[in-house]
Amino acid sequence: MSEQLSFLRPISGTGTDDVVIVGGGLAGLFCALKLAPRPVTVLTAASLGKGASSAWAQAGIAAAVSPGDTVEKHVADTLEAGAGIVDEKIARLMASEAADRISDLLGFGVPFDRDLEGKLAVSREAAHSEKRIVRVRGDMAGRAIMEALITAVRNTSSIRVLEGYAVQEILKQGKSVSGVIARDEAGSGQNKIKLDAKAVVLAAGGVGHLYSVTTNPSEARGSGVGMAARAGAVMADMEFVQFHPTAIDVGKDPSPLATEALRGHGATLHNSSGERFMVALHEDAELAPRDIVARGIFEQVKTGKGAFLDCTKSVGESFADEFPTVHGYCMESGIDPSTELIPVVPAAHYFMGGILTDASGRSTLDGLWACGEVTSTGAHGANRLASNSLLEAVVFAARIAEDISELMPAPKLIPWSTGSLPHDDLEAPEDTEAMTLLRHTMSAEFGVVRDPKGMLEGLKTILDIEEANKLQRFENVLITAKLIAVSALIRKESRGGHFRTDLPDENPEFAHRSYLTLEAANKMALDLVDGSMVEAG
Ligand code: SIN
Repeated sequence: MSEQLSFLRPISGTGTDDVVIVGGGLAGLFCALKLAPRPVTVLTAASLGKGASSAWAQAGIAAAVSPGDTVEKHVADTLEAGAGIVDEKIARLMASEAADRISDLLGFGVPFDRDLEGKLAVSREAAHSEKRIVRVRGDMAGRAIMEALITAVRNTSSIRVLEGYAVQEILKQGKSVSGVIARDEAGSGQNKIKLDAKAVVLAAGGVGHLYSVTTNPSEARGSGVGMAARAGAVMADMEFVQFHPTAIDVGKDPSPLATEALRGHGATLHNSSGERFMVALHEDAELAPRDIVARGIFEQVKTGKGAFLDCTKSVGESFADEFPTVHGYCMESGIDPSTELIPVVPAAHYFMGGILTDASGRSTLDGLWACGEVTSTGAHGANRLASNSLLEAVVFAARIAEDISELMPAPKLIPWSTGSLPHDDLEAPEDTEAMTLLRHTMSAEFGVVRDPKGMLEGLKTILDIEEANKLQRFENVLITAKLIAVSALIRKESRGGHFRTDLPDENPEFAHRSYLTLEAANKMALDLVDGSMVEAG
């Protein structure tokens, strides 16, 4: 229970909310809309549309909607990318519900691109055997989807949105989840609100900002994962972080993304000597699986040769029209991508691990559902197939809405009074010194390439930071970092997003998902640090 309950203040309405959704990204908003007209409260740390990775997605949503493509081909590509540990049943239901969810999004007003016959236009990305990425105006899918959903949410009277509230604790009564405590980000951070709820849906996003180079917004720092672990939920596949190969290396935090679709369009990667280094590393060169391209670039950057994306021939003059978002990012930094090379670096981009959930989005705690990047559904295995993330978010958000509706009759009256409480200035708190150290440690020791000595040192640093910082707002973040560290140390092989220099190959003994509770992780962390648990293979 929180140490500062005396600071709790009432927010409009009394009594118990029916459903509280934590997170205003794609998964949270889609779930709220699918639950309508059932009353729902959505809590978001930033104002709607800000602070959510979904809005920054450039590519689109994978869906087998073009002639010649099939659900089975989509499943096969998802299994192949996931490096042997995808839950096939989950991947199949995700792929098979894709077309229906795209049609929901069209219904909410998302302007997906169409061809001359009016059919959905689809394009191809690495590791997809068919063209199946449904997009909006080249690289603007995330922004357009979020704009449409935000408008739909604002026009839905059953959805109450509380902006500026960062949830930091999941409340339980006995073994069941009974609500949340949130901090008022717009105020001093000292004020808190308590919302009791019959159902809590966590859609609090990923972990990218735990790393010093990331494509994720600063709100994506693993708080949701950490608070669920603290409440006792089982976590899965925590060692698997996906690094996007081509973040634009112009010293910005977060790093702007240069979408993979550029390479799908024929852009090539070169080092400062002009060598096209991916050709020697994989038969598909720049379109090799994401982890292989990320390691290829990492090696060039580490050895000082640097890595550069050349779009001058493949996209050239049509850059501003075809990839307006990337064009804008480059021009802001003084690079004209139609005539100049783009410096690139791998960046933490997507988390395959998270809260273990089932096909209905249920966590292992009664009363707690989860969807989006905060979860580990098993759909991505060790390495997510590009553009499956937005798909997973909407598929499981819809399934949660269905599950809650079947399980609990909707209340006859809206159990809260009127109105949302918008704020104008909702910037996330600056990184503290400890957060900067944590991010540096995660990038150095649990990044694209990992080695056992470094990982052990990294774990010690995380435990030291934890010892010295008892602030509750930081506790969830540190828990997530610790779970990643322990999981990485005990997976004695390389697979997908987890690459160890000492064990560079897959080991069939580890061809399974991993599961961890905070209690077990705490014990293992101490054993690893004092040497009683020997981790190196
Ligand atoms: C990209 O546009 O390259 C990112 C797509 C994704 O991460 O799914």
